[in-house]
Amino acid sequence: MRISIFGLGYVGAVTAGCLSSHGHYIVGVDVHPAKVADFNNGIPPIVEPGLDELLKSAKSNSRLRATQNCADAIADTELSIVCVGTPSNAAGGLDLNFVRGVAREIGDALRQSRKPHTLVFRSTMLPGSTAKLVSELLADLVAAGTLRVFYYPEFLRESTAVADFETPSLAVVGSHDGSAPPADLMKNLFGEKASVVNWPTAEMVKYACNAFHAAKITFANEVGRVGKAVEVDARAVMSLLCQDTRLNISSYYMKPGNPFGGSCLPKDVRALTNLARTNGLSLPMLENLLSSNERHLSSLLHLITETEHREVVILGLSFKSNTDDLRESPMVDVAQALLGRGYKLRIYDPALNLAALVGANKRVIDTKMPHLASLLHTDLATAVGSRGLIVAAQKCAPVAELKKLVTANHHVLDVNGWGDLKELPAKYEGFCW
Ligand SMILES: NC(=O)c1ccc[n+]([C@@H]2O[C@H](COP(=O)([O-])OP(=O)(O)OC[C@H]3O[C@@H](n4cnc5c(N)ncnc54)[C@H](O)[C@@H]3O)[C@@H](O)[C@H]2O)c1
Repeated sequence: MRISIFGLGYVGAVTAGCLSSHGHYIVGVDVHPAKVADFNNGIPPIVEPGLDELLKSAKSNSRLRATQNCADAIADTELSIVCVGTPSNAAGGLDLNFVRGVAREIGDALRQSRKPHTLVFRSTMLPGSTAKLVSELLADLVAAGTLRVFYYPEFLRESTAVADFETPSLAVVGSHDGSAPPADLMKNLFGEKASVVNWPTAEMVKYACNAFHAAKITFANEVGRVGKAVEVDARAVMSLLCQDTRLNISSYYMKPGNPFGGSCLPKDVRALTNLARTNGLSLPMLENLLSSNERHLSSLLHLITETEHREVVILGLSFKSNTDDLRESPMVDVAQALLGRGYKLRIYDPALNLAALVGANKRVIDTKMPHLASLLHTDLATAVGSRGLIVAAQKCAPVAELKKLVTANHHVLDVNGWGDLKELPAKYEGFCW
């Protein structure tokens, strides 16, 4: 393919070197004359292991040139990749001015040349950015079928960028509506194993990945600080933590849904942060876990109270399915708050037998919901009733049974990702997706 690459910085220069080594013809575009001059001589404008050789080889095979002129590049290529910077602005927001400038120039050049073209944004941009840029600057070209636009986030790390480009840790490509790009693009550019999603999902994945990396580093450092204070080698602790690939380094606990609760997580986070405080340490990330969890619970309550329903059916009261443990169960707090606001409540939880509750578990009910017995239904049909908002916190009822009972007068709020609920004949809403 003949490819223009806009922005010859860390991402653009590596992309140019790697794609030229795959046999593509590359025209680099940058506003900096010195970078363009270097590139035209096969010299990398940045320090990156392996890039020197790639650019030299591309230059000697006449597969590389650079220009400051957008129209020149567009006239000479069939596809453009935008890798210009997206820095923070003074308020901490995202400055899209460089991307916007390039998109405008590319649009103008395409209107002149009238050639079909493919535009791939690689710069990191917040969800909604590609759609906004297209609607503001390129809508006519897309509508005329002259221009196809994809968002293709970059996951390379500086210093291992060439190797990361060749074997990416993740490949995701966004199209307007999530439909697959043409086979030649999947084969020659995105990679046949790339996951295809819509633009905003691809944009969001990049931010979720970087926020996750930042969260992991901060977590390990906070464990390190508290460990050192109590003379524990936290590098050994973290190494052991990473040995658990079932619960720790895994997709477990990595799905948006229920707030956390139960007899261990809130209590142990409280104790650990208290230990840090008594040692004069501040651990902002760990200290804020409980308040973030409370915020999450509040947003669930907000969603419930935003609907027009004043009858609520809670499926699953304990903190997770197949247990009758009610200690620090988020749904007990939800039930308590709704009762306080005068809602009519029906609860279904087959794991719960009030007569069998003892100790701390029984105290939760005695103090928070003494009249639980009158709200708890052992019969699913009575619990579901003929109308109301079904707050499904757990998969505690067979969907086949729910299908027979749920009507268009119900509204289903899926708290924990129970996709089958979409098949019910009621309005479906996901809690945080
Ligand atoms: N650096 C990384 O490790 C990395 C990794 C993944 C994603 N990203 C993302 O990729 C994007 C680029 O990052 P980078 O580190 O390569 O940036 P960079 O600052 O190194 O390079 C950006 C280049 O764009 C050029 N430019 C600016 N306006 C231009 C215009 N109108 N026309 C042509 N060129 C123009 C600049 O002169 C510069 O050379 C950012 O959105 C960044 O967040 C970076």
